[in-house]
Amino acid sequence: MPIVKEIEQRRAKRALAAKAITEEVLLRLAEAAHMAPSSLNSQSWRMITVKDPEALDKLKETLAPGNYWARKAPIITAFVTNPTWGLILGDVTFTPFELGMAAMAYQIQAVAEGLYVHPIAGYNAKEAKEALGIRNEDTLQTLIVLGYPGDEEDLSEKHLESEHSPRIRKSLDEVACFDHWDERLIPKPKK
Ligand SMILES: Cc1cc2nc3c(=O)[nH]c(=O)nc-3n(C[C@H](O)[C@H](O)[C@H](O)COP(=O)(O)O)c2cc1C
Repeated sequence: MPIVKEIEQRRAKRALAAKAITEEVLLRLAEAAHMAPSSLNSQSWRMITVKDPEALDKLKETLAPGNYWARKAPIITAFVTNPTWGLILGDVTFTPFELGMAAMAYQIQAVAEGLYVHPIAGYNAKEAKEALGIRNEDTLQTLIVLGYPGDEEDLSEKHLESEHSPRIRKSLDEVACFDHWDERLIPKPKK
């Protein structure tokens, strides 16, 4: 059986169209995320789908320069959590993991809807939280940038190249093994 099509096809693409995304589609994405599993069913993620042009502009002002391409996006969704909203066992806090699972379901649904969907960390988190009215004590874990496929002409050379590059991954045996920890899983020192 092949890998599920939407997982295989998902790439963090940047050539976005400004074309609007309907509320129906946006709600479906949120619903997909909402179906993610969580410890004690705590559902420790929160999503803010930013679609109002003024609110979106304010949020886009917080983007790192390298994320210039996200300025075209008609929608950016903020994923928020807080360690106190979910399970902590010993030194393991489960909320970022749970948010990640919800965010992945969101992305898979987005791919199925024909969208480009691109999580980013490159923004000023303090300013982005202020722009969205997120409380100081909560964590803005990621912004997910959404848009239908658009023109590539505004992309930098580097991004244009990555838009067409094959997916780059470590070899599978560097990240996965069977039965017992394997020394091959230890990350190689960075050059
Ligand atoms: C948490 C997170 C933060 C990321 N931040 C950025 C970012 O700020 N800007 C960007 O262009 N891509 C960002 N990416 C996208 C990654 O660069 C991309 O997922 C990775 O290179 C693998 O490529 P692929 O998703 O096309 O397989 C981010 C991805 C994740 C999961």
